[in-house]
Amino acid sequence: MSTFEDIRTAEAAYHMHVYGRQPVAFVRGEGMHLYDTNGRAYLDFVGGIAVISTGHSHPDVVRAIQEQAATLSHVSNLYYTEPQVKLAQRLHDLLGWGKVFFANSGAEANECAVKLARKHTLKDGAKSKFKVVAAMGSFHGRTVATLAATGQPHKHEPFAPLPAEFSHVPLNDEHALDSAVGDETSAVLLEVIQGEGGVNLATPEFLNAARKFCDERGAVLIFDEVQTGLGRTGRWFAFEHAGVIPDVITLAKSLGGGLPIGACVAQDEIASAFGRGDHATTFGGGPVPSAAALATIDVIDREGLVENSARMGERLVASLRAKTAGNPAVKEVRGTGLLVAVQLNGEWAADIVAAALLRGLLVNNVTPSAVRLSPPLVATAGDIDRAAGVIGEIVDGYRTA
Ligand SMILES: Cc1ncc(COP(=O)(O)O)c(C=O)c1O
Repeated sequence: MSTFEDIRTAEAAYHMHVYGRQPVAFVRGEGMHLYDTNGRAYLDFVGGIAVISTGHSHPDVVRAIQEQAATLSHVSNLYYTEPQVKLAQRLHDLLGWGKVFFANSGAEANECAVKLARKHTLKDGAKSKFKVVAAMGSFHGRTVATLAATGQPHKHEPFAPLPAEFSHVPLNDEHALDSAVGDETSAVLLEVIQGEGGVNLATPEFLNAARKFCDERGAVLIFDEVQTGLGRTGRWFAFEHAGVIPDVITLAKSLGGGLPIGACVAQDEIASAFGRGDHATTFGGGPVPSAAALATIDVIDREGLVENSARMGERLVASLRAKTAGNPAVKEVRGTGLLVAVQLNGEWAADIVAAALLRGLLVNNVTPSAVRLSPPLVATAGDIDRAAGVIGEIVDGYRTA
């Protein structure tokens, strides 16, 4: 087997250098743990960036993938396949509404949502509904349109000019949203909890205001639940916390249990704006990722992982608060379910991530001053306490920083 140095050297030689990777290569995963090239175990509180909800290599997900791959792997969307339609029905049943388009990633699910909103809002012959209002600090993807939608100007700079129809308001500023949503607005695109932006929670008031302005002004309300969907926040969907129902929801990350699949689900009337040929993708909703997604949802349901996420999330927040109480290096601990961040009073997040890695704990730095914890939803009380203990000890070293 290759050593870590072999792998790192090959990566340096043959990859475009867009990723800042941790100095470790993983070869195996099981449950809450990943194992590196030396066989060392790490407690995984990254979960493949909020992707792995059932734990690594859950036997039911593995079996579904193996059986489907051995039976039928790909036919394209020129034909019908059963796993794809079963998954569409399962998502409909979970939401209680909606028709789906399957994509391959979160960014693509959002691309679909933005196109759909524009087509829908133009349907009565309107000529000028093309603008999209999003929030500052948001993250919606790295394609040209979803990068423009992302409310992080430093990510835009090297690629300017980006499509101009995207604008941004401060998160939770209802007055700014009121001013920004106008007659030309086709969609308001929001994360219920900003994941990549640092685990920033939208208030119920802000989400309700977005719903109201969209209804009044004929815009489509899109919730990007790529990171928060399917149990991550202790509900199947994060919008349930506020009780604000969107017109369109996008999902990806945890949907495929580790395989790439995204979904854009729209209320029937909006979904009907798309006609044949309006949108498509070769791989979308292929039999293998669809089978993986069905198995993943079954496991989440059967093993009560949404409830576990709520319970363990509360324990994680409480435990991190207790371990960091009185430590001036920590500004706050925030989150819902198993999407949690430790907000620091300085730009130490990368150093804390590196220190945690040395102690066998994986976490990641979403911003220079925020460390995110997004473990698999199977995390136990023991896993939570260990992770909170390690983080507490590390940030102790920053008391006087
Ligand atoms: C809320 C949200 N939307 C969209 C994306 C983009 O998803 P992908 O990386 O699968 O394109 C992400 C990825 O982190 C995300 O967190």
